[in-house]
Amino acid sequence: MPSTVIVGGFYGDEGKGKIVSYLAMKDNPVIAVRGGVGPNAGHTIEHNNKKYKVRMLPSAFLNPDTRLLIGPGVVVSPEVLLKEIEEFGTQDRSYVDFQCGIIEESHRTIDSQGRLKQSIGSTGTGTGPANADRAMRTLKLAKEIDSLAFYLEDVPNTINFALDRNEKVLVEGTQGTFLSLWHGTYPFVTSKDVTASAICSDVGLGPKRVDDVIIVFKSYVTRVGEGPLKNEIAPENAVSRGWQEIGTVTGRQRRAADFDFDLAKRAIMLNSATQIAITKLDVVFPECAHMQSFSDLSSPAKYFIKNIEDQLKTPVTLIGTGPEVDDTIDRRE
Ligand code: GTP
Ligand code: IMP
Ligand code: MG
Repeated sequence: MPSTVIVGGFYGDEGKGKIVSYLAMKDNPVIAVRGGVGPNAGHTIEHNNKKYKVRMLPSAFLNPDTRLLIGPGVVVSPEVLLKEIEEFGTQDRSYVDFQCGIIEESHRTIDSQGRLKQSIGSTGTGTGPANADRAMRTLKLAKEIDSLAFYLEDVPNTINFALDRNEKVLVEGTQGTFLSLWHGTYPFVTSKDVTASAICSDVGLGPKRVDDVIIVFKSYVTRVGEGPLKNEIAPENAVSRGWQEIGTVTGRQRRAADFDFDLAKRAIMLNSATQIAITKLDVVFPECAHMQSFSDLSSPAKYFIKNIEDQLKTPVTLIGTGPEVDDTIDRRE
């Protein structure tokens, strides 16, 4: 803090939503701003035994004092966004940049059939075709959409002014490093870059205004959709290890593999990560479920974390020990 960027280190679904919710509650940022692609992202957040699913609004919405912004690099589905604003009751603190691109029905139609659906395994949410239209300069922008008029804002201006006043700003990335259009496993990737630099560009934050980059890794690797996954384990093996997961947006089974140090090292490099968050430690070490203190962890779990720090030469400052926001070990100073 004051400006912290959160990104995914593998193929998305690392649990960024939960980590962001924890930081929002704990650090009380004035602003949370979303970068990333669009409603192809899906975060599941659990708090006080309630489960929330969010695709467009920043995952920080659980803190009622945090303003929720969406940067101009994000493509917006007005239907999905307005439904979330209604569901979470955030009418008085939700803002969309004038220049966000708009996803229309035609984009979803193209995205949910043909090559994108069949060979890439796209989420069908229209983000790729919308970004293609943006590159062709034919995409509609938020400022042209009546239903968004009330929420329009100059997001880059707002966040940079907040930082001038030394206020805390949480910058939320979505997807994961190896789904990046530039750095991922092309063509099995999403429709733009999603590393920290891109997330900053999405919201209008220059490279010298970033204080911390927290990269989120799951304790194992998952991938949904097509594309390579080194050392992928068989689905029945994932079930027996308790690693089976179902995607938030598409309901598809996520594929799984062991923690991959080569990928993680490259992700640290590409994102210039300053801290690591490890999620789902409780899934690999069930005896650690719900723990909030590092000293209480079992020896194998402590070794797992220390080995990650040694190999990646970056401190593990946050550890997820369960899906609830409070199931978190916080080792930041
Ligand atoms: P994208 O932006 O779509 O990449 O998603 P995401 O990174 O926000 O992750 P998503 O919510 O799709 O998937 C993570 C899943 O793991 C969710 O179901 C969370 O509730 C769950 N989860 C997150 N952290 C933990 C943890 O530490 N332990 C356990 N058991 N579950 C966790
Ligand atoms: P698209 O971004 O919907 O075009 O999908 C392209 C690829 O990225 C597919 O393999 C999707 O499953 C994957 N993908 C896109 N967004 C996410 C996400 O938020 N989490 C996990 N995978 C994603
Ligand atoms: Mg997800």
